[in-house]
Amino acid sequence: MGAALEGQNILAPSILSADFMKLGEDIDTALSAGAQWIHYDVMDGMFVPNISVGLPVLKCIHNKYQEAVMLDVHLMIEEPDRYIENFAASGAGMISVHVEACRHLDRTVEHIREAGVKCAVALNPSTPLTSVEYMLPKLDMVVLMSVNPGFGGQKFIPYTMEKLRTLTALKKSRGFAFDIEIDGGVTTDNARQLLDEGANVLVAGSSVFGGDIKRNVEQLMEILNA
Ligand code: DX5
Ligand code: ZN
Repeated sequence: MGAALEGQNILAPSILSADFMKLGEDIDTALSAGAQWIHYDVMDGMFVPNISVGLPVLKCIHNKYQEAVMLDVHLMIEEPDRYIENFAASGAGMISVHVEACRHLDRTVEHIREAGVKCAVALNPSTPLTSVEYMLPKLDMVVLMSVNPGFGGQKFIPYTMEKLRTLTALKKSRGFAFDIEIDGGVTTDNARQLLDEGANVLVAGSSVFGGDIKRNVEQLMEILNA
């Protein structure tokens, strides 16, 4: 499984840090500079202390790019089962749910598969890997949160490196092919180490959309392609 092309590292700019007055332009700039996916953060004000964007904005982005761009939808919402069909119908190519928000994770994972989209599970920084261990054969991607979810622009939590190392070892020893995404505080300073430790999808919000988007993406892509 896994959604990324074999051997290719993926940059997934998080539009949470984009300028919503010119969202289309910001996304175009990031994609034409080399970013491959779009990371779409959905927050409900309950699972995380913030509210972001929902279905209509996703639909607009999908209408423009169709299947040419993977829309990586990160659901930071309670009981995500309620909205899986809606997000799939609005253009999600991948749906990530939080293990902490799912009472019956196995059922939710099946639900996402039935909706015909790629399936990922996200773990908060303090959540142990064992919480997702039995689900690994069913997943296209595991998302390690490297900040407490809810806001862009936070600092990378250092112990994520150790967690990533453990997950990579588990993946190798069992011969799994899922992608490993790191979400939160990714910059040009830690990207190389994250890739070396086994991550192959890096989410970047403020380090892409803060300042010169083209230059930011090019600098990150240089690291991802090295
Ligand atoms: C945090 C979100 C992230 C966030 C990343 O709750 O899930 O995707 O936008 O932003 P940066 O890269 O600025 O930490
Ligand atoms: Zn996210």
